[in-house]
Amino acid sequence: QQSPSVRIVEVGPRDGLQNIRDSVPTQTKLELIRRLQATGLSTIELTSVVSPRAVPQLKDCREVLQDEKVKTFLHNPRLQLPVLVPNEKGLKIAIEHGVREVAVFVSATEGFSKANINCSVQEGLERAKRVAALALATKEAGEFQIAVRGYVSCIFADPFDGQTPHSAVLHCVQELLQAGCYEISLGDTLGVGSPPNVRSLLAYLKVNNIPLSKLAGHFHDTYGQAVANVWEAYTCGLTVFDSSVAGLGGCPFAPGAKGNVATEDLVYMFNNAGISTGVDLTRLTEVGTWISKQLSITNSSRVGTALMIK
Ligand code: HMG
Ligand code: MG
Repeated sequence: QQSPSVRIVEVGPRDGLQNIRDSVPTQTKLELIRRLQATGLSTIELTSVVSPRAVPQLKDCREVLQDEKVKTFLHNPRLQLPVLVPNEKGLKIAIEHGVREVAVFVSATEGFSKANINCSVQEGLERAKRVAALALATKEAGEFQIAVRGYVSCIFADPFDGQTPHSAVLHCVQELLQAGCYEISLGDTLGVGSPPNVRSLLAYLKVNNIPLSKLAGHFHDTYGQAVANVWEAYTCGLTVFDSSVAGLGGCPFAPGAKGNVATEDLVYMFNNAGISTGVDLTRLTEVGTWISKQLSITNSSRVGTALMIK
């Protein structure tokens, strides 16, 4: 019998960096990607191709994608390297740079949708569907097919609108799956949810015929609930989780929200449970220490900090 495993989607180079105000040198971003790959992580979100006015930190996305080492990674069939794109312009730039997977993103709620992508939820869904259709059609144009991942933000609450009804999340998940996304990452953008909220939403999606095998968990850690939320989601049946080395992360349009759950903390927890992640925790901890130093910030991973003191 095969031992149980989970897939970790490392979002440090994208979600992790997008909210850092001081400009991070492109070389540091590239070094981060290289070091993360060397830990055994096989899914790493490289960057986003979004309006440089919306997210100035990632305006060097082209330089990142043009790097020789990144190009070899993009050619490696064992690696999954999604790039976040909000529209056709972003998709076009990603394809030009040899990207084989993109992530489209919508919010379940109107307030965050307007703030983040300057349109309503339904307009955001229509845009994401157009991007997905174009990406999936690339094969017919004689190129390789681009895989499409989807994000639904504000699954529990919105910074402007308050609590999110489950039905709003369901609607977005259904639409994105129908658009051809192979997986939908459920984002607690504000990091306000707790395990009972996770259980309740996943049970609701399941009874409404959403296969849990198509879902991933993306938990921010504002209230310190993210590790517990991941475990709860795992016991409900999810096996894919987004996280950031050193707990980096946040969104410029979600004021007050903290970083993603730390990758080190997830690897430690799953290791202890005998669940394989394919990631070398010692190496990962070194990456967390290194990047925290580069960015002059406190390492937000409890495991990373504890292991480094030892
Ligand atoms: P807009 O102003 O409505 O659209 O923005 P626009 O088409 O008028 O474009 C404005 C400017 O951006 C133009 O430049 C475009 O050319 C340029 P100008 O003519 O003014 O010089 N532009 C682009 N440049 C590069 N790449 C592109 C692109 N598109 C337009 N793809 C838009 C609408 C969606 C573009 C904008 O609001 C945007 O880029 N938003 C992205 C915001 C973002 O990246 N947020 C963080 C990621 S989401 C997140 O963190 C949540 C997540 O982690 C899950 C969770 O935690 O819940 C995924
Ligand atoms: Mg996020």
